[in-house]
Amino acid sequence: MKNQPNDNETNNQSVTFNSYKVLLLGNSYVGKTCILLRFSEDIFKESYDVTIGLNYRIKSMTIENNPIKMQIWDTSGEEKFKAIAKNFYRGAHGVLLVYDICDKSTFSDVKSWIEQIIENADNDEIIMILCGNKCDNEKDRKITKEEGENLAKSYGIPFFECSAKSNININEIFDTMAHKIYTKIGNRQSSSVKLASNTIKKKIGKCCVTK
Ligand code: GTP
Repeated sequence: MKNQPNDNETNNQSVTFNSYKVLLLGNSYVGKTCILLRFSEDIFKESYDVTIGLNYRIKSMTIENNPIKMQIWDTSGEEKFKAIAKNFYRGAHGVLLVYDICDKSTFSDVKSWIEQIIENADNDEIIMILCGNKCDNEKDRKITKEEGENLAKSYGIPFFECSAKSNININEIFDTMAHKIYTKIGNRQSSSVKLASNTIKKKIGKCCVTK
């Protein structure tokens, strides 16, 4: 899926709809793309390809009998892609901040991701959820559930351990996000987003790739 046009509902069309924009953030290799694929297509990919630039999926949901669309954006966790951050954050309602329970550095970097979110978000009240992914892999666990809970608590944000591989808590995370955005803004500020075709220009380092 990496570096592919990713709107299975709007391919090559111009469609306008109310939508909640949610970003997947976190270090490289924590499983952001797998979380997106599990939620949007119920699939899991063992192989790893680094995400180049940006991908998105759109998923229809119903919150308290109101249909909404979640526009979920995935980006590379690599340092060099942070240059695109400002545009990526524009209009975002929520962030799923992901670390890998088997990799300490991804957990210790959560703080700097939160600082980056606060710096870049154009919405002061952006909703964050902390997600400890790969909880299927107990034998390689380096971060306890309690440590994850305590970190989330220190920022006053919800916390889930999850597994894209075993489909643990993936729907619950997106349901929680959708409900929180709905509670906060309902349809009021949800962006009426126009996605014109599946052509997205992405800045990667110094070059610009069109997909
Ligand atoms: P970047 O594109 O570099 O930012 O990485 P990413 O965060 O999108 O990671 P990706 O989803 O590509 O997953 C990285 C690796 O972790 C892949 O080999 C996946 O198969 C694996 N992986 C992802 N989620 C899980 C999970 O829940 N459990 C386990 N055991 N492995 C996972």
